[in-house]
Amino acid sequence: MKKLEKIIWTEEFSVGHKQLNDQHLKIVSFINELIESPINDQVDALKCISRMLEYSKEHLEYEEGLLERHNYPEASSHSIIHQFYVRKVENFLKMSFHEPHIFRTEVLSFLKEWWTYHILEEDMKYRPFLEEKGIA
Ligand SMILES: [Fe+2]
Ligand SMILES: [Fe+2]
Repeated sequence: MKKLEKIIWTEEFSVGHKQLNDQHLKIVSFINELIESPINDQVDALKCISRMLEYSKEHLEYEEGLLERHNYPEASSHSIIHQFYVRKVENFLKMSFHEPHIFRTEVLSFLKEWWTYHILEEDMKYRPFLEEKGIA
């Protein structure tokens, strides 16, 4: 099985906001840690993914709060995308009890793809808005 490559953080990931960038970086580090760690134990893997989910929920809430407070016009559709993510990862965690063998690779690929796309494409859409309002 081909090993997943880590996510390489570059300036292009910057959404122009200090806290949001720090939180995104932490999420990326979480994913990279999961990719690197030789977890064969299903219980350990579940714990790691759960911690990752808890932290990412905190970030999503923070981001949604900030966008709502400043009346970002796409705030509600952005929140819906976040909800999709949370449900998807929760389902993965539930499913993993029944199908442990597919768990690790599938979840990690999903996390890596989802977050890379979400930061670079979806979150990046609010960057000009925050810049225009002078929110950094
Ligand atoms: Fe987002
Ligand atoms: Fe984000």
